[in-house]
Amino acid sequence: MRVGVLTGGGDCPGLNAVIRAVVRKGVGVYGFDFVGFRDGWRGPLENVTVPLGVNEVRGILPRGGTILKSSRTNPFKVENGVERIKENLAANGIDALIAIGGEDTLGVATKLADLGVKVVGVPKTIDNDLSGTDFTFGFDTAVNIATEAIDRLHTTAESHHRVLVVEVMGRHAGWIALHSGIAGGASAVLIPEQPFDIEKLCEHVETRFETHYSPIIVVSEGAVPAEGATDEQGMTLVSGEKDAFGHVRLGGIGDRLAGEIEARTGKEARAVVLGHIQRGGTPTAFDRWLATRFGLHAIDAVAEKDFGKMVALRGTDIIRVPLSEGTAELKLVSPEEYAEAAVFFG
Ligand code: F6P
Repeated sequence: MRVGVLTGGGDCPGLNAVIRAVVRKGVGVYGFDFVGFRDGWRGPLENVTVPLGVNEVRGILPRGGTILKSSRTNPFKVENGVERIKENLAANGIDALIAIGGEDTLGVATKLADLGVKVVGVPKTIDNDLSGTDFTFGFDTAVNIATEAIDRLHTTAESHHRVLVVEVMGRHAGWIALHSGIAGGASAVLIPEQPFDIEKLCEHVETRFETHYSPIIVVSEGAVPAEGATDEQGMTLVSGEKDAFGHVRLGGIGDRLAGEIEARTGKEARAVVLGHIQRGGTPTAFDRWLATRFGLHAIDAVAEKDFGKMVALRGTDIIRVPLSEGTAELKLVSPEEYAEAAVFFG
């Protein structure tokens, strides 16, 4: 069999570990050969390929990013996109495609599978918000990076009697904020699922100073103020720009929040935006382990011609779920889980 591999959407640590496992088991156990498609769906759309064999995957296990590169190309937004992909797959003699991606990349894979493309999906996103799997690789690395940042920010906040607001990634789901906020002992964690009350937040800030500690506020980039905290209060969060999947570009909540806290409490407040630092660099051992197992099971699915499926972690088992189910819903932080963290607020 000849297998195509692509990585789409925002990169995350562990992508290379998946690619390596797919190729090593594919060549070593099944005798398959591989074609790498560059830049996510742009590769099969524009027929941009790279060689992919055992030599190309040597040494990439601990490397962040993706040797295949990535993009947010949406073939369904391109004229004759699906026909072009089918033609290019045929021209390269591709029998099966492994698509490694998040909600958007696997959403495209789902539609292509319905249109007869033989595809197996591997879930990835640092946001950990795909409902079909308990965890996605990249998330653990992002949480560790954010936690280390929070640990460091505590000491400098204390020295200067400042509030530090740490903005982390998380467009729709607050998993990174919640996990790193709990691990780092944050004074409050603000997530997209729970619109925040700016007055209550300022009360937490005040009480933290009363006990002679400097508050650290962890905020997801997608967090929103509860009704009543209006644009006039400077809480508008998004720029007008949208990507090919219709997502607005987020960012800015940390700064706005710091300004608002300073104005309301009179305490100096600064914002730190962790941004793409959370997605770069070497994956943690957990993410390498998970990504490797996903890769091994994805190539098994190809060998068994079990197409239209996505590999997923359930407990400690790797299972297969229909692609359509794997990405149907976003996995969000429940009110109960958020309430656990709220015990430590203020
Ligand atoms: O979807 C993963 C993610 O890292 C989100 O947390 C974030 O909103 C988005 O990607 C950022 O995308 P980009 O790298 O295109 O700015």
